[in-house]
Amino acid sequence: MLNVRSVLVTGSNRGIGLELVRQLAGKSKGPEWVFATCRDPEGPRAQDLKSLAAKYQCVKILPMDINDLSSIKTAAAKVTELLQGAGLNLLINNAGTVKGSTLESETAEDMAEVYKTNVIGPMLVSQAFLPLLRKASQESPQKGLSCSKAAIVNVSSEGGSIANVDGWIRGQITNYRCSKAALNMLSRCQGLGFAEDGILCIALHPGWVQTDLGNVTAALNMLSRCQGLGFAEDGILCIALHPGWVQTDLGNVT
Ligand SMILES: NC(=O)c1ccc[n+]([C@@H]2O[C@H](COP(=O)([O-])OP(=O)(O)OC[C@H]3O[C@@H](n4cnc5c(N)ncnc54)[C@H](OP(=O)(O)O)[C@@H]3O)[C@@H](O)[C@H]2O)c1
Repeated sequence: MLNVRSVLVTGSNRGIGLELVRQLAGKSKGPEWVFATCRDPEGPRAQDLKSLAAKYQCVKILPMDINDLSSIKTAAAKVTELLQGAGLNLLINNAGTVKGSTLESETAEDMAEVYKTNVIGPMLVSQAFLPLLRKASQESPQKGLSCSKAAIVNVSSEGGSIANVDGWIRGQITNYRCSKAALNMLSRCQGLGFAEDGILCIALHPGWVQTDLGNVTAALNMLSRCQGLGFAEDGILCIALHPGWVQTDLGNVT
């Protein structure tokens, strides 16, 4: 059972993030602090979150754009101040984005923008809150790894799975798929890197949820059905291949 003193959720003004804040704040014996971050706390899209903050004392709204390092650092400094020496138990990297596309219409700009938000953002946020997560881990009497002790939860998607591409028929969205595959690898790297600090790092697929983002893939449903499995119908085989570890300039970096 989840038993945390402090949680931070990114992208908490709508969709899954907002619901996470609602459920965490409404829990009996819930967290003392639910840090709900969003890009524009004063904007019209934050009204529901503001209502939650008015209802639950534990909800503290903080501005944070995960594409902006200074905004991430400012939020981390504010959380550090509010926690008064205590650590942060649970960081939920929920904020994410997608650009509607097909394999053939995909653009470099959309690929880069979605990668920035879905991969670089969670990486920078995790780095900024690492000292607080380490502190929570050190403070905890619990053995092993646990979300109640210290954890980074990266909200990923089955869309990033290489093994299971059943959702292809619902939407090709290469920008999103590639970014979530990379987020899965980031989570794996974080798991390897932070295990010795006692910080659990996982990637989590929330299921298909009817949010603004979830509906983008729904809207692409018919289009993708018509286009079938991308280039397969053109008789073009598309595969990823691992060449082994080769002693080249790139190979020598590792
Ligand atoms: N819905 C699904 O079916 C589904 C399935 C699998 C995985 N997921 C994942 O679940 C997470 C939440 O998705 P959702 O469906 O709740 O999406 P959503 O309703 O579109 O909400 C996305 C949230 O991310 C925020 N965000 C986007 N870019 C940001 C940035 N640069 N800085 C800070 N916040 C930013 C948005 O803030 P603004 O309001 O400011 O834009 C919004 O709060 C995402 O990581 C998504 O990939 C969703």
